[in-house]
Amino acid sequence: MTVRDLREKYLRFFESKGHFRFPSGSLIPYDVTGRLDESLLFNGAGMIQFKPYFRGLAQPENKRLITVQKCVRTGDIEEVGDDTHLTFFEMMGNFSFGDYFKSQAIAYSWEFLTGADWLALDPKRLSFSVFEEDDEAYAEWDFWITPAGIDTATRVFRLGEDTNYWPAGSFSKGPPGPCGPNSEMFYWGGSEEPPSGPYTKEDWLRDESAGKWLEIWNDVFIQFDWEGHLRNPDRPADGYQKDGMPELPFRSVDTGMGLERTAIVLGGHKSIYDIDVFQPILRSIEGVSGTVRYGDSFEKDQAMRIIADHIRTSVFCISGGILPSNNGRGYVLRRLIRRAVLKGQRVLGFDKPFFHIVFDGVVDAMGSHYTELEEQREVIVKTLQDEEALFRKTLSTGSGLLQTELDGLDAGSTLLGETAFRLYDTFGFPLEVTIEIADEAGISVDVDGYEKALKEAQERSRGGQEREAVYSQKADVTELAVTDAPLTTEFFGYECTSGAGRIVRMQVSGEENGSATKVKVALDRTPFYAESGGQTGDHGIMIGDGFTIKVINTHKVSGVFWHDGEIQRTKEIPLQALLGQTVDAQVLAERRASIVRNHTATHLLQAALRQVLGTHVNQAGSYVGPDNLRFDFTHGKGMSQEEVGKVERIVNEQALANTAVQVYADLPIAEAKGKGAMALFGEKYGDRVRMVEVGDFSRELCGGVHVRTTGEIGLFKIVSESSAASGVRRIEAITGESAYNWVLEQTRRLREAAELVKSSPADLVPAVQKTLDSLRDEKRRREKAEMAAVSGRGAAADEEGNDVEQVGAVRVWFKNFGEVDQKIAAQGLDNRIASNPDLVGVIAVVADGKVTFICKCGSAAVAAGAHAGNIVREVAKIAGGGGGGRPEFATAGGKLPEKANEAIAAAPSIVKDLLK
Ligand code: SER
Repeated sequence: MTVRDLREKYLRFFESKGHFRFPSGSLIPYDVTGRLDESLLFNGAGMIQFKPYFRGLAQPENKRLITVQKCVRTGDIEEVGDDTHLTFFEMMGNFSFGDYFKSQAIAYSWEFLTGADWLALDPKRLSFSVFEEDDEAYAEWDFWITPAGIDTATRVFRLGEDTNYWPAGSFSKGPPGPCGPNSEMFYWGGSEEPPSGPYTKEDWLRDESAGKWLEIWNDVFIQFDWEGHLRNPDRPADGYQKDGMPELPFRSVDTGMGLERTAIVLGGHKSIYDIDVFQPILRSIEGVSGTVRYGDSFEKDQAMRIIADHIRTSVFCISGGILPSNNGRGYVLRRLIRRAVLKGQRVLGFDKPFFHIVFDGVVDAMGSHYTELEEQREVIVKTLQDEEALFRKTLSTGSGLLQTELDGLDAGSTLLGETAFRLYDTFGFPLEVTIEIADEAGISVDVDGYEKALKEAQERSRGGQEREAVYSQKADVTELAVTDAPLTTEFFGYECTSGAGRIVRMQVSGEENGSATKVKVALDRTPFYAESGGQTGDHGIMIGDGFTIKVINTHKVSGVFWHDGEIQRTKEIPLQALLGQTVDAQVLAERRASIVRNHTATHLLQAALRQVLGTHVNQAGSYVGPDNLRFDFTHGKGMSQEEVGKVERIVNEQALANTAVQVYADLPIAEAKGKGAMALFGEKYGDRVRMVEVGDFSRELCGGVHVRTTGEIGLFKIVSESSAASGVRRIEAITGESAYNWVLEQTRRLREAAELVKSSPADLVPAVQKTLDSLRDEKRRREKAEMAAVSGRGAAADEEGNDVEQVGAVRVWFKNFGEVDQKIAAQGLDNRIASNPDLVGVIAVVADGKVTFICKCGSAAVAAGAHAGNIVREVAKIAGGGGGGRPEFATAGGKLPEKANEAIAAAPSIVKDLLK
């Protein structure tokens, strides 16, 4: 059975049991309400996106759902290349939110695993684990396997909370949140027959850790709400103290079946890389050079496996909106790409960029199910190419830097772990390469020190918390709510900026600001836009009976709009009494109008960029505020002045056309995509979406607020174009009043500049040109005069013996030229030496409060033992400086120009001493 068939079979089985298909969550862990789970780097399990459903904070349309979730787990990255570990995998899962529970979940699992129409696995090759206290799960398995002729005591084992509670270990350790026991299913993958006869838990544990029992499925029975508090609020690492574990209002099921692992079992394979989904990828790696073959050697196979795993993770990360960078998700992606490139280069001998070529293998294998791969082809290929090129450059620079470090060490000594880590962290230079090169010089590397530095860096980028942090939340301030508080806030601010709402939630921290108390309030309905999709949150005021709340930001958490504010009371009202009161909520309308202008302009900008630069341009981030807008987009190189000008012109043409902006509030996603609507790269959308359309020019999926007609934007002006990250450019622009103020400011500057050159703005350019011309003429005149003076003095000295002293076989010419241009003085010195080979010339020039000494020795003087570097060093010492150089020529600086004469005068005696 192919991976594709298995995926489909699973979905069809659970559809036949009343489940609905639900799309995979994005790899960036957004939940179903669109909130980003800050506690996680990646989506690593099917349940992550459903957390609000388990907690009852949001309701699914159907209580039975199934997904095939794209997952990334990088905790075991070092193991990748063996038979079972992957960093990217697909997890199939069936979910019940307050519908069926343990008994039904286990019955479904049994039927799917052993049913003749489904996987038809041999029951003798299956075993199960349950939580040690879960008698019910034990009994359920007993119910199914005994009639199949299997002794339950030899196939069902009770284990502890570290393996059989979800989140792992949460029975005693927390974190707070929904949790429950789980039951895992294993398949006998050993080459010999599965064990028969007496078989104890110890036997089972031994075989499991030897990799003979392969875990394929995990059913979690979410039942409790773990309650506890941090043992030590100042040291969260000390963990939680359990307060209790009451039952949740409803029970749920979360299951996870590893698609690739199950495919190994069904195909009777030894390794995960033998399953069909990896074949096109391995073939495309073979195709890179035409000389390597999978199966040739252990070392090469392992390199190919690592490349095959990492390419999948990389392209799904990129198609999910993650780009290589130096922290968080981007850092993980960068490491994966670099690790794969390194294997290709050093083990397989791929000396040209190859990683983007392997992408075609992934498209062959998975492109029909994951259409985003083709849709994002341009960005994926470009990102892989750029990152590989950058890394290959890094490798050659890094080798140079490492060489410098090694040059300072003797053979037999050790390179500091910190140095190895710095090479890795700052330059991306991998440890294994450092070890290899150091070894060639007979130097070892302090790997422990490296690991220590690495661990610290990893903690900074929050890796390795995938299991622990599934529900954790920061400890909160006091939150008050009316009993009938709706779960989410109704936003009515698209068409207006004020209206009535009732305070249904409050957070109070007790912080005061002068006479005002800081609060966060949530209304049942609000005209305030909460920060989202780049558009900043609204400011404004809420007026109630006896109090006003000045709102200084609005943001949303799980669909609740929170207004951050300061409350002023004109009557004695306890804060608690504000709950349930109705307020007149008024958004600062002018501020909102400026934001909205910038928002629509951002849409026009994106469309114009795609017109001018190409359709590889994708939004990589945006900020839409009242004063300006910022738009980050994927594009490999800086824009030319001409391109920037074109984009700006197109947006202004659109504004002048005064097109009506049409908003479709509720459209099936397929219809919106059919109309070519731009979706935010990496963002998650439901079945129905909101689309904002500007004539035929721009269509985007967007929840933000926009102008009614484009004319409201006024003037659109790009103020900068720069780099935001590797492969990402940033445009900052202004509209409306900001653009008008910008024009005023430019005009004022022009007028001031014109006044400085006694001209008018209209004649400014020729006037500046005239000033520059006369400055240049003046400079030429001065240089000429100086040159004449330098040469004249030199000639006179030669003849009259002034400033020249005979020292043994050489003559020393020394002169302080004062504030003469250094180039001219040096030229004069050159001329003198050219015609006097026995001459040692030492001169000084002064500029910007510093003195520079230049020494030059003729060929005969050098032959007689004169050394410019040594001479100038001694001379400069007298003027508080130092320097040195070659025997023929050297310069040095001094901090004490007032000592220049004294230093220069010492030149003959210094030469004399040095010649001795
Ligand atoms: N959340 C559980 C796991 O990831 C079951 O889906 O194993």
